[in-house]
Amino acid sequence: QKHLLGIKNITREDIELIFETARSFKEVINRPIKKVPSLRDITIANVFFENSTRTRLSFELAEKRLSADVVNFSSSTSSVKKGETLLDTVNNILAMKVDMVVMRHSSPGAPHFLAKHINANIVNAGDGTHEHPTQALLDTYSIMEKHGSLEGLKVAIIGDILHSRVAISNIFALQKLGAEVMVCGPNTLLPKFIGALGVKMELDVRKALRWCDVANVLRIQLERQQIKYFPSLREYSLYYGINKKMLDELDKEITIMHPGPINRGVELNSDVADSEHSIILEQVQNGVAVRMAVLYLLAGGKD
Ligand code: CP
Repeated sequence: QKHLLGIKNITREDIELIFETARSFKEVINRPIKKVPSLRDITIANVFFENSTRTRLSFELAEKRLSADVVNFSSSTSSVKKGETLLDTVNNILAMKVDMVVMRHSSPGAPHFLAKHINANIVNAGDGTHEHPTQALLDTYSIMEKHGSLEGLKVAIIGDILHSRVAISNIFALQKLGAEVMVCGPNTLLPKFIGALGVKMELDVRKALRWCDVANVLRIQLERQQIKYFPSLREYSLYYGINKKMLDELDKEITIMHPGPINRGVELNSDVADSEHSIILEQVQNGVAVRMAVLYLLAGGKD
């Protein structure tokens, strides 16, 4: 079975094939008739053990645009609440003749564990603080669309790097596509291992903004913090919150990205999030085409 568990173990060629396929699907979903019959005989379960707005809806739309049959599972309203295990839950879903599983889970490695034990294609829709591969694919696809190429482009990932699967997957994808990567945030949210990934590390957000062509801004993940809360949201917004004045002080235009959900007034002010610099809603739009491409290729569309 083929899976998409992370960006770490896929190649630049894999990413380029996903982008090429996504470009075709983007044309499809911009047409009045947005559906293609590509996955007509495939049934996909979206199995979410953590909250989601964008990823869950984007996968569901991608699946429906490909004419797949879709079932949605949310752990909060399921028999997980009665003590059923992850493996039993997924095996019961698969017994209903499901071919692919899109899974979000709070435990790093949960989709890798499933991939070893079940007979279905698995797509990781975010596993704890580990990876969020389709987010990195849609982010890098969106940068490619805006800037033409990632080769030599300077991308700063700013915010809570310590708890961010988006940061990890983005670092792998950006580097494979030839971008230079910087991570920026307070010392407490910059894990030591991140330096070993070959990225620049910066504590001063103004320096990061002066350095980069693209700033991918992340929220503080209070729900994952072990030391509650350091820095506090107020401290974070004071020292790291990005506002229009900071962009106006730069001698160049930079692209602003955010995977969502935004904590407005904390990591990003509305005068930046909603400005002409922002491609945040383009990221969301591209997410559907990129996920269509991933599902199509995993289902055997191409090797
Ligand atoms: N970007 C992202 O993963 O958003 P959701 O948590 O809403 O899916």
